[in-house]
Amino acid sequence: MSKSGKTDAASDPVIPLLTAIGLSQPKAIEAVKSPKIAAELKDIVETYGLHTRAGEKMDDKQAGLIVALAGQLVKADSRPEEPKRAYVVEKIVAGQLKSVDQVTAAVKYVESHPTPIDDADFDTQCGVGFSITAAELYDQIANYVTSAAVSGWSNLGQVINAARSIPELRWANTLEVKNTVEKVFLDKFGAKEAAKPKVKEPKKAPAKAQASVEPEPSSRKSIFEEGFLGQLHKPGENPQIRPEFKEKHLAVTGGQVWTRFPPEPNGYLHIGHSKAIFVNFGYAAHHGGKCYLRYDDTNPEKEEAQYFESILEMVRWLGFEPWKITYSSDYFQQLYELAVELIKRDKAYVCHCSQEEIKASRGEKSGQLPTACVHRTRPISESLVEFEKMKDGFYRPKEANLRMKQDLTDGNPQMWDLTAYRVLDSPHHRTHDKWKIYPTYDYTHCLVDSFENISHSLCTVEFVASRQSYEWLCDALEVYRPRQSEYGRLNLEGTVMSKRKIMELVQKGYVNGWDDPRLYTLIALRRRGVPPGAIISFVSNLGVSTSLSNIEISRFEQSVRQHLEGTAPRLLMVLRPLKVTIENLLEDYVLMVEKPLHPKVAALGTTTIPFTRNIYIDAEDFRLEDSKDYFRLAPGKTVGLFQAPHPITCTSYKTDPTSGQVVELICRMEDGAEVKKPKAYIQWVAEHAASGSPVRIDETRVFHQLFKSDQPSKNFLDDVDPNSLEVIKGAMVEVGFWSLAKRSIGEARRESKERTEKASTREGTSPGDDTPHATSEQLVGNECIRFQGLRVAYFAVDKDSRLACLDEPEGVEPARKQGDLLILNRIVSLKEDSGKAA
Ligand SMILES: *[C@@H]1O[C@H](CO)[C@@H](O)[C@H](O)[C@H]1NC(C)=O
Repeated sequence: MSKSGKTDAASDPVIPLLTAIGLSQPKAIEAVKSPKIAAELKDIVETYGLHTRAGEKMDDKQAGLIVALAGQLVKADSRPEEPKRAYVVEKIVAGQLKSVDQVTAAVKYVESHPTPIDDADFDTQCGVGFSITAAELYDQIANYVTSAAVSGWSNLGQVINAARSIPELRWANTLEVKNTVEKVFLDKFGAKEAAKPKVKEPKKAPAKAQASVEPEPSSRKSIFEEGFLGQLHKPGENPQIRPEFKEKHLAVTGGQVWTRFPPEPNGYLHIGHSKAIFVNFGYAAHHGGKCYLRYDDTNPEKEEAQYFESILEMVRWLGFEPWKITYSSDYFQQLYELAVELIKRDKAYVCHCSQEEIKASRGEKSGQLPTACVHRTRPISESLVEFEKMKDGFYRPKEANLRMKQDLTDGNPQMWDLTAYRVLDSPHHRTHDKWKIYPTYDYTHCLVDSFENISHSLCTVEFVASRQSYEWLCDALEVYRPRQSEYGRLNLEGTVMSKRKIMELVQKGYVNGWDDPRLYTLIALRRRGVPPGAIISFVSNLGVSTSLSNIEISRFEQSVRQHLEGTAPRLLMVLRPLKVTIENLLEDYVLMVEKPLHPKVAALGTTTIPFTRNIYIDAEDFRLEDSKDYFRLAPGKTVGLFQAPHPITCTSYKTDPTSGQVVELICRMEDGAEVKKPKAYIQWVAEHAASGSPVRIDETRVFHQLFKSDQPSKNFLDDVDPNSLEVIKGAMVEVGFWSLAKRSIGEARRESKERTEKASTREGTSPGDDTPHATSEQLVGNECIRFQGLRVAYFAVDKDSRLACLDEPEGVEPARKQGDLLILNRIVSLKEDSGKAA
């Protein structure tokens, strides 16, 4: 290409071609930033003579679609050959394709269909000729809002998203859809402020002043377009030591955003990592770019196979698919060769100082600048020989290190001759015993970012000081230099996240493993039933800035609750059953009651449950002493039963002769005309063997905060609340549980299969033998069965449960089988509680 050496984009010869077809000057300059796209545009304009067509001049928007087309073509998997490209171009020129969305669909269409293109089919598939009036749009959306039983402004974002998937609105203008949804909301729910909080923020929530709490998601632009992420540089804008690095970089990436999520595979990911995952994968996805999952495996002493698997699983569980899975160890040879090069450039030396000597010479404690050690000035040839000896196993660990020759007069300790390579006597899980020397994080990270052509190296502010050494090393070796940018970490208060501390809790038996639902590892949150979408919206609502987000657990739980409120089906459930005999019903009385699974989300469907003479209510809904402000059951009092035809009145009760505890209530069903509407309704389940009712729950696990203090101290083990796990035996849930369970698992399996198939057919995902890869099983577990126990809490099925019917073919009526074990985990309470065990 003749464009290398070009320094000023504004002088690019393609620009006049673009302005000639109708594109504005600034957009034209923007468009040619990627050399690949510029070349494609030049070819399109010249091939079809778009710049010379009199009387057919396009407007800025149409011309913008030609640019979009060029962008699509250069990254298309299988480039549509002529006359397919011409076909799409003419459709744009004729004004038939009106949006980028349509152009995207058009490219996909021609890619996958033979020529000649079937005009009519193309038009339907790509929305040609689509039009909708403002009134029609309004009606469509108003209908949707009514039928989906949307509850208020808090659902705005959801509805805007959902509206796009209404088939009739597939080709509607996104902005118009959004404005119309807002208009419908305004008409239906009133002004946003007045309508406000359905779900109140807990009072103590607005945490620390430093917490970066940003406004409600619905009222703001995408998190990727404002604040920290909105201010990041454009690909190619990161400075380079040699200008041609930029050209090459843009040529390889096509000007896309390329990021990476680079965990060390030495532990399980926790909620703090979900921010890193969201930021890296989300930012790339938002800009149509790519994100690597890169295992940073340079520390063979700490890595274990289980962590590799688990990391991929968690990334996928949160909803992301890596573009490619790589390892730092993929580059060991390249890294080694560059280390030799670094020595040759007199920018590294082999040092034999002990750790203590290095520390002392770095003067970190005394607050002085470091002093050079005797090895720093040794001849290059000597360091080369010594480095080979390190590599060949001549030295034991710690006897020799390769150190970078940085700048001892700089105020930044990251510039004080960091170690680049050390000798380690451990086999590596992938390279086995090939290497005796291993590169450090400081040496590896920036170079692998460079090898992988990362455009944005996003990390947390802990690494701010490292940016200088990152750039120093890339420049010292004269390689492409990615730009590192740092955002604030997410920290949850009232729990511990450090690997060492969690390990101690596990090993000393304070919790039952790394996935104990009282922990905030991602595997624990998953097991507890927290939906991945709730975690993503939590992280996204917090926003991304450079300050630390110190968030209280109660705020996280509030987020989860909000997410479940509109999505979790509701079942009748009694935690501590108290038997009730309805004396005026016959022994064999049975009424089948059909009830909605969610009062506002009709799409969730219904269940049918029996109502009989013998039912169970929650022991908490009965009292012996009545009082004025008490509306549930007491002797002589009447209460409503959800979905049941009539209220009941307690006429008497039976007690256990030894304990004196109430063990059964005798009630009367009030079906007379004079009965007043009860002031309160309670949940119940009926005894009815023929329907398999009720479903008996072997164990219900209720998790309270693991620590008594909001700031578990150094002696965090002393802070552990011994009552943080509450196990309740013998709870009951309605029979609707079975169909819900079966359906939830079925849906999860289907979705997972679809996603996995898509993921494994994408470019770059063919894994090596030892590479964890995407499987359908990764995304499906018992925790996919979630519901709200009405008036009780949100629950999910624990992984230790055994429910044989889930593996039976569809169509077989699910029910309890011999050997089944049903364990429920409480995901979160319905309202904020004290958080502590009672
Ligand atoms: C990164 O870009 C260089 C050109 O600058 C190219 O040779 C190399 O293959 C690219 N690497 C990857 C992993 O994309």
